[in-house]
Amino acid sequence: MSAAEDGKRAAAERALAQVEDGTVVGVGTGSTVRYFIEGLARRRDDIQGAVSSSQASTELLEHHGIPVLDLNAVGPIGLYVDGADECDGQRRLIKGGGGALTREKIIAAAAERFVCIIDPGKRVDVLGRFPLPVEVIPMARSHVGRQLLAMGGQPVWRQGVVTDNGNWILDVHNCRFPDPADSETKINQIAGVVTVGLFALRPADQVLIGADGSL
Ligand code: 5RP
Repeated sequence: MSAAEDGKRAAAERALAQVEDGTVVGVGTGSTVRYFIEGLARRRDDIQGAVSSSQASTELLEHHGIPVLDLNAVGPIGLYVDGADECDGQRRLIKGGGGALTREKIIAAAAERFVCIIDPGKRVDVLGRFPLPVEVIPMARSHVGRQLLAMGGQPVWRQGVVTDNGNWILDVHNCRFPDPADSETKINQIAGVVTVGLFALRPADQVLIGADGSL
């Protein structure tokens, strides 16, 4: 297994220690979360179930016999565990490499505690090395693209990808985000944007990095 995979698995195992018996757990999406779900399967009789952030995670959870619950049917979620594509020193994130950013942002907002699990390679000083995903209403793709271009980024349409919500994704290249909360607010205000993959207004409460790092 590569060092990155080792780091993902180790961070996921550490997050499992925070899962309390009898609770509903929010579950993110991606290869790091896959390790978390595998671990959660060992605890499936201890928890009420999971709220899932994507169809892919729902299928994995169900494969492991973990009940998948509707966010509308459960109260506030105590713990949400998810990965990220990048993380800065203030636990602000870029997410959405797997295209699940909208549901991820909803569950993060509904969670009392958001624990992010990453391998050490995801840690950056300034967000923006990873292209920023932006989910858009399909008819607004060109309009949003022009606005992002005017803001200094280079948007690229993730062709062939349709999100679980029926929308499209633009990946914004060559843009740095020294003030990610400000950028999140501005991009959110473009008509046709559903969700921007900056998680700065609601950062992670804790980031577990590999086997022993944390923020
Ligand atoms: C999916 C995400 C993922 O958390 C992010 O892409 C990290 O994925 P991985 O754990 O596979 O590196 O935001 O929308």
